[in-house]
Amino acid sequence: MVHVAWSRGRRGVPRAVMRRPRWWSPAAVSILACLLAAPALASSTRAGAQLTVNGGRRGPRINPTQFGAFLEEINHSGDGGLYGELIRNRDLKEDSNAPVYWSPFTLRNSTATIALDSSQPLNAENQVSLRLTIGRITPGGSAGVANWGYWGVPVRPSTTYRVSFFARSSRPLSGPLTVALVGLFHSHVWAETTIGGVTGQWARYTTTIRTSARTPASLSNRFVITTSDPADAGSTLWFTIVSVFPPTYHGLPNGFRVDLMQKLAALHPGYFRIPGGNYLEGETVTTRFSWQNTIGPIEDRPGHDNSAWGYWSDDGIGLLEWLELAEQLHAQPLLAVYAGDSLDGTIVAPDQLQPYIQDALDEIQYAIGPTTSYWGAQRAADGHPAPFDLKMVEVGNEDNLDPSGSYNAYRYPMFYDAIKSAYPQLKIVATAPVTSRPMDILDEHFYDNDPAYFTANAHMFDKISRRGPKILVGEYAATDGSPTGTLGAALGEAAFLTGLVRNADLVIGASYAPLLVNVNDVNWPTNLIGYNGLNSYGSPSYWVLRLFSAVRGGRVIGSRLTGRATGLFQVATRRPHQTTVFVVNDSRIPASVTVRLEGLGTRARTVSTTVLTGDPSGMNSLAQPRAIAPRTRRLSALGNQFTYTFPPDSMTVLDLAS
Ligand code: AHR
Repeated sequence: MVHVAWSRGRRGVPRAVMRRPRWWSPAAVSILACLLAAPALASSTRAGAQLTVNGGRRGPRINPTQFGAFLEEINHSGDGGLYGELIRNRDLKEDSNAPVYWSPFTLRNSTATIALDSSQPLNAENQVSLRLTIGRITPGGSAGVANWGYWGVPVRPSTTYRVSFFARSSRPLSGPLTVALVGLFHSHVWAETTIGGVTGQWARYTTTIRTSARTPASLSNRFVITTSDPADAGSTLWFTIVSVFPPTYHGLPNGFRVDLMQKLAALHPGYFRIPGGNYLEGETVTTRFSWQNTIGPIEDRPGHDNSAWGYWSDDGIGLLEWLELAEQLHAQPLLAVYAGDSLDGTIVAPDQLQPYIQDALDEIQYAIGPTTSYWGAQRAADGHPAPFDLKMVEVGNEDNLDPSGSYNAYRYPMFYDAIKSAYPQLKIVATAPVTSRPMDILDEHFYDNDPAYFTANAHMFDKISRRGPKILVGEYAATDGSPTGTLGAALGEAAFLTGLVRNADLVIGASYAPLLVNVNDVNWPTNLIGYNGLNSYGSPSYWVLRLFSAVRGGRVIGSRLTGRATGLFQVATRRPHQTTVFVVNDSRIPASVTVRLEGLGTRARTVSTTVLTGDPSGMNSLAQPRAIAPRTRRLSALGNQFTYTFPPDSMTVLDLAS
C-alpha cells in the first residue's frame, strides 16, 4: 500500500508536507563547490559517474496514459482562459448588485445608464439582464454598453469574431445596433457591423466582425453595442448572454482558445482528468459541479458559484465541452464524479446518497451511453452522437481528507457497486485507500514547496508492492515560484518523474496541477502555463513534461547510474530504432559521465541532445516566455561508450537513433 505524504490547500497555499534541507541552495552549493574545487577551480566538473543503458533488459511498457493533464476551473483556467469566450459576465450573474465588467458607452455628449434588471427574464435559467436606458443621442454620437472582457478584450489582425446576444427593447428601434471592437484609448474601432430589427420580444442576434490586416494585436479594448439614431433616444434595451468568440481550436463552435490548446496538444496528454479537483466538490453541496445544469444551449445554462475558487462560473465549459476538450487533444477523459463530499466538510449520509449515485450513472450515460439511451440521446441532441472514449471514472476527489472514514465505509462501495454493475468495463479510480472494495487505480497527489521533496522521493515507487492497485499521480507540483514555477521546481519534478516512468508497470499516469493560470487571477501559487488574454507561455515544468512526452509508444529499458552519481537521476526508454535517455542533474556542478550502451547493437548512431538548464531560481513569464526553454543539438555519431557532461541544474534528453 502506498503511503504518501500529501496535502491539499483549500482555496489557499498548499501546505508543505515534508521539509528537507535545501541541500542545493545557493549558499550550500557554493560552500560545497569551494570544498570540491580546492585547490584549483578546474576540478569544478565532477567526474567518476557511469551510466549504463542496457537495451537487453526490457522493462515495463509505457502506458498510453503515462502523462496526462488535469484541469478544473481555477485561476480563470476556463472562463478567461481556455474557453474561447471574450465577454466577461455575459450572463450578468457575477455580482447580484451591479453589472460588473460592463459600463455605459457614449460618444459626443450622448447619454445612457445601465443597471441589472430581473423584470424581463429571458428564461427560467437566465432571469437577469443588462438594462440600457438611453438618454440623449446627439447627431454623430451614439449610446450603448461596453464589456471590458477578462482584463481586456484581445484583438488580432485579420481575425473574424462571432458575435451573438439576446436583446429586446421597450419599443421597436428606429435605427440598427452597431457591434464593435473598440480600443480603450481614442476609441479606435478595430472591427464593426450593424444589426437591425430589435423589437419588444427577446430574440437572438448573430453576426460576425472582422479586423483588418493592419490591426495591431492588443488587449486594451472593449466590445461595445451601441445605437446612433437620435430617434431612439428615450428607449430602453435589455441584453443578456452577450458572446464574442474569436476562431477556436479546430473550429469547435463553443470551443477553446487556440494558443493554449496548441500548448496542451504539444504535451500529447494520454488522459484528461476533469472537471476537478475542488471545483468538482464545491465548498458546499449546492455549489458542486452539477453536470445536468451545464449542458444544452449556453442560454439554458444557469451557471454556478464556483465557491471552491471564489468566482462565478457561467458553465460555458459544461460537461459536453469538458469531454470535447479531452477528445480534441486525443486524450481519454478521466471523468471524476461527485461522491458526497464537499469542502465545507459536508458528508452525505448513506440514506441520502442514492440520488448522487444515480446522477453519476446518468453522467456516465451522457458520456458513453448509446443514442437510444435517455442521456445518450441528449448527448446526440447536443451535437455529439458518438460516445466518448471513457475508460476510467474517479469517485470523488481527495477523499483521504474526510476524517470520518465514510469513503471506505459506504461512499466508495456504493458508487463502486453501482458503476461496475452498469459499466463493468470501466476502471474505477479511488481517491483514498480503501479496503471495502477493490481499487482498480488509486489517485495520489503530491505537492510540496521544496523541490528537494521530489528528488528525495524519486525512488519512492521502486519499493512499492505490486499486489495493490495501480497508481495515478493525478496532481503533483513543486510549488516554488509564482504564478508559474522555477527551474529548480521543474528539475525536482523531473527527477520524480524518472521514477514514475521507470515504474510504469505500477504508475499508469501523472498530471501536473494546476494546469493553467490567468496571471491576473492567481488563486493557486504555482501553475504550469501562464497567460493573459493575448499571450501565453509554458513554465520550466511545462518543458519537462514536453520532453517526457517522448516516452510515448516505448518501453522502459535497463539503465543504471554508478560511481559519483549524487544529484543524478535517470530513466531510459526504447522505441524501434530509437533509444531515449532522460537524465536530470539536480546539482550545481556539471557531471562528466561515462555512458555505456549495452544490448543496443553496434550500428552507428546519430545522437541529439535536448537540454533544459539555467538558474534554478529562473522562471518564464509573459515578458520572457522562453527564458528557460530546451535547446537541441546534433552530435556526431557515437559508439557504445562515450563521455558526456551533463550541465549543472539540467534535464537532458539523449536521443540515440540507429
Ligand atoms: O490543484 C489545486 C487543488 O489541489 C485541487 O483542486 C485539489 O484537488 C488539490 O487539493
